[in-house]
Amino acid sequence: MKVLIVGSGGREHAIAVSAAKSPKVDKLYCAPGNAGIGQVAECVPIGAMEFEKLAAFAKEQAVDFTIIGMDDPLVGGIVDVFEEQGLKVFGPRKNAAILEGSKAFSKDLMKKYGIPTAAYETFDDPQEALAYLETAKLPVVLKADGLALGKGVLICQTLEEAKEGVKSIMQDKKFGSAGNRMVVEEFMTGREVSVLSFVDGKTIRILSSAQDHKRAQDGDQGLNTGGMGTFSPSPFYTKEVDTFCRNHIYQATVDAMAAEGRPFVGVIFFGLMLTENGPKVLEYNARFGDPEAQVVLPRMKNDMIEVMQACVEGRLDQIQIEFEDNAAVCVVLASNGYPVAYEKGYPIEGLERFEKETDYYCFHAGTACRDGKIVTNGGRVLGVTAKGADLKQARRKAYEAVEWVHFDNQYMRHDIGKAIDDV
Ligand code: AMP
Ligand code: GLY
Repeated sequence: MKVLIVGSGGREHAIAVSAAKSPKVDKLYCAPGNAGIGQVAECVPIGAMEFEKLAAFAKEQAVDFTIIGMDDPLVGGIVDVFEEQGLKVFGPRKNAAILEGSKAFSKDLMKKYGIPTAAYETFDDPQEALAYLETAKLPVVLKADGLALGKGVLICQTLEEAKEGVKSIMQDKKFGSAGNRMVVEEFMTGREVSVLSFVDGKTIRILSSAQDHKRAQDGDQGLNTGGMGTFSPSPFYTKEVDTFCRNHIYQATVDAMAAEGRPFVGVIFFGLMLTENGPKVLEYNARFGDPEAQVVLPRMKNDMIEVMQACVEGRLDQIQIEFEDNAAVCVVLASNGYPVAYEKGYPIEGLERFEKETDYYCFHAGTACRDGKIVTNGGRVLGVTAKGADLKQARRKAYEAVEWVHFDNQYMRHDIGKAIDDV
């Protein structure tokens, strides 16, 4: 079959590598893709938000199955456009992708169906938000309602900071129309875990857990980023945590969406915080995490395409997901200055080594091909990933492999997976 992947980051490279392994796939396209994806798929120069052009391409090439990797096109309704044209596509429709697209929607859903999450209030009017903050407990968390590239969350230690936050989100529109509404949330403490799942509208299958490192600098200092590295599984995701989440969070979310007339088909990413009062949902995403996909997909034994087809055809209950009994660590190599300002266009050396080694992967995020050479083309450039018998071995191997590649202006965190030393 012919498969099209929509997106261009490290997550889409990981999806492409898994798709290429499937015996069902004989032609793989990616729009728009990147230099690394170009080694396993034919890259097509159509942007992820050009829904009509993408659907026209899928029709012209008789693409059998399309996988949407990114949040923006999902929230914008790309799946509806494909379905209207009779095309098979993996991902939630617009009315279900709202689970990620609106924090107010997801918080109201959790409240209505008793799914554990932080206490909150929603505001459309900045004056009402400011009045509420006068009485709120500190620190307090402010969230722009809509998509904001993972940056629309402010943790405010003082009332002054919180007032500034309301101004920047709702009045100065720092995150654009994402800030037309705002959620003010109770601050929680605990370890964070990312849990990805496949969903067919009724049935949910949970994948191995992972942990991201969102801050730019070592020791969780610096600005929030899209993610500087991950490990999987998380040793803090114990059997007890899993049982609790299965009883109170996972199926409950799928059932709630179905009850609301918004059946969810695709990947639900549960961002959990393990608080002293039990696991609570920090956020939902309507797609694989980036760079969570880079440590979870390489460990999955199933044919990913077969699982995704089962989701779209509503027969996920017939599939069991199996994982290798090992671990993986991904270290992101970024451009110095990310997530604020950085230079691009530096040649990347040493990539060929990864083709010769098993259990090592170099997932491309911001890369491009210029005059036959692969160059840096974004903030997050590469996700160097290694599998190992356990987390410590995987971490050692991932940090060994980052030495194989080089580009000017390279930046990484040195403490990805350090938390596993606490176990
Ligand atoms: P989100 O996009 O909602 O996952 O938020 C981004 C990050 O902000 C999370 O990964 C947490 O580290 C932090 N965060 C979000 N909500 C809360 C909360 N209620 N309490 C503490 N930290 C939070
Ligand atoms: N790594 C977090 C995310 O993909 O949202």
